[in-house]
Amino acid sequence: MTSVVERWNIHPEHRWLYGERPASPVEFDEAQGLWNVYGHAECREALGDHRTFSSHTARLLPVGVEESLLEGDLSQLDPPKHLKYRRLLTPAFSPKLIGAMEPRIAAITAGLLDAVDGKPEIEMVADLAYPLPVIVIAELLGVPASDRELFREWADNVIESFSGFSSLDEEHGAEDIAAGTERLQPLLAYLSEHLAERRRRPREDLLTHLATAEVDGERLTGNEAVNIANIMLITGHITTSMVLGNTVLCLDHHPEQAARVRADQSLVPGAIEEALRLLSPATVLTRATNVDADLNGHRVPKDQLAFLWLGAANRDPRAFPDPDRFDPGRDPNPHFGFGWGIHFCIGAGLARLEGRIALNALLDRFPELRTDPDDPPAFFGTPDMIGVNRLPLHTA
Ligand code: HEM
Repeated sequence: MTSVVERWNIHPEHRWLYGERPASPVEFDEAQGLWNVYGHAECREALGDHRTFSSHTARLLPVGVEESLLEGDLSQLDPPKHLKYRRLLTPAFSPKLIGAMEPRIAAITAGLLDAVDGKPEIEMVADLAYPLPVIVIAELLGVPASDRELFREWADNVIESFSGFSSLDEEHGAEDIAAGTERLQPLLAYLSEHLAERRRRPREDLLTHLATAEVDGERLTGNEAVNIANIMLITGHITTSMVLGNTVLCLDHHPEQAARVRADQSLVPGAIEEALRLLSPATVLTRATNVDADLNGHRVPKDQLAFLWLGAANRDPRAFPDPDRFDPGRDPNPHFGFGWGIHFCIGAGLARLEGRIALNALLDRFPELRTDPDDPPAFFGTPDMIGVNRLPLHTA
């Protein structure tokens, strides 16, 4: 039987998705001048050692993003600064506050699905997987959810323009990044206006918190607050949308597992974890070595870029028995879909909650969720992401 990646021809260059095992868990790529890390133990070691494997990769990338865009970007920061910024956000993502969002998320989901109730076909991204997480994150931030089509335009642009790969491409990368930066300006201006409004009239939302919060006794600069809001808005919805689509693709491709999950919906969270493992929306993370490193016996010298291929580590047979099998009952499932270590995804709890509510609602409402070979799903093209941006489904 073909696999889900073969069926939809997802990143054919990522051979590990196709059952091939990398020759070594750590390899130097002469052409790109960087290290590829494929092994689970090796990725875990790198993600767990921020002193050696720094997140501040911008200093080594041949093509840089404007410094002003990186201010406040916690994914580029190392301790102690990283912790200071992360602490600003953690209260908003406490398990208690996220748990309290369940009724609202269920209501948004129900409202979106009511609009397509009884239809024999839906386009899952436009009908549910895109609007649900964007409404949730917009409400959490405090920007009007009705502006979501604008966010979509801006987010798609950011995904295509700012991948780690544009930064490696000395020939065209600078142009791509410059064009992306230009197209990002309306979003930054939009957030800046909302932040200014919160300074004048505070409310109970994350934007007000960012507008008034202090790090080391000093207010965030306008630029830092805008960048953090931007990261929350973009990463807060696009990856969640991807994982919803990817889970449905996995279930569609494994009817026997779909039947098992339908018969016992307590397996829904396990199905989402498996989709995160097998079709990881974030397929690669980058780090920069501060000192000479040893990754399970593989030496990586100082001042090198390391590409940590989560998608490969998530299929490492040393960590996952029968790694290419989609098994919603897999336990334990120590995948890196949300990263690992101090940068572990701050929104993981929220994404898991949205995923569980949305998947359960889809299964409850529709007897079938079948892809259409004549109208196949469309995927984002960027090599560091796996996710659909269009997913037509038959529902009956
Ligand atoms: C299924 C959905 C999601 C996936 C697959 C995902 C994936 C990831 C990954 C792999 C990282 C680690 C980055 C690194 O180590 O360099 C990360 C970090 C992060 N994620 Fe998520 N994410 C998701 C949802 C969310 C949501 C819903 C939010 C916010 C509402 C969010 C906000 C963040 C932030 C702010 C960071 C940076 C944390 C830090 O550097 O300390 N993510 N995410």
